[in-house]
Amino acid sequence: MMIIRAQSYDDMSRKAANIISAQVILHPASVLGLATGSSPLGTYRLLIDRHRKGDLDFSAVKSVNLDEYQGLAPDSPQSYRYFMRHNLFQHINIRPENTYIPNGLEADAQAECKRYDGVIDDAGGIDLQLLGIGHNGHIGFNEPGGAFEKGTHLVALSDSTIEANKRFFDSEADVPRHAYTMGIRSIMHARRIVLIASGKDKAQIIQKALRGPITPAVPASVLQLHGNFTLVADEDALFLLR
Ligand code: GLP
Repeated sequence: MMIIRAQSYDDMSRKAANIISAQVILHPASVLGLATGSSPLGTYRLLIDRHRKGDLDFSAVKSVNLDEYQGLAPDSPQSYRYFMRHNLFQHINIRPENTYIPNGLEADAQAECKRYDGVIDDAGGIDLQLLGIGHNGHIGFNEPGGAFEKGTHLVALSDSTIEANKRFFDSEADVPRHAYTMGIRSIMHARRIVLIASGKDKAQIIQKALRGPITPAVPASVLQLHGNFTLVADEDALFLLR
């Protein structure tokens, strides 16, 4: 495990963008595993800047996103498809047909999970997986207690995740109760994993995930077992790890 210390959110974003840029420059046909949430926004802004300056070419890149709410249409502003389009995809030259996200509207959940695992396999697996972390240690939407060996599956969101994510919706009642997520197995098969974390509110879970026991009760703790795992975090998030 490698820990890269950043001074601030902006510095964390720059350091994460550096790693992703290097990946895309060295391997233009990379498969990037992408995340949503507020943590990666700064990283995505920097990738957009670098693309505009002519330093990054995404024309051969494929992306697979971690998760999507069940029941939200791709053009719903709270969907992760919408988030990715507005915060990254429409500003860079990635081909829309090379961007994959679970389909929140598919009625047959089992078929959708199978299809999405197939998408990842057909792409040849994930070269670099970017992750944020939830306050309860979730990665993607793998909530505490889920089995490590799962591929893509449908999860019931925990109360704390619904509470944390209600800021993106008009009210808590509007937050979908279920989501599709890549499983821990799919995440752990990525050849490189970069977890980003910023802010004092993440310090406790970062400490627990990286220094505590490896257990499904803290899904991110499994990252301790990955052979090419990098944490990029600011001083606030690393506060308890000193
Ligand atoms: C959501 C996403 C996760 C993300 C987490 C943390 O629940 N499904 O992929 O890592 O929130 O979000 P934030 O970066 O906003 O703290």
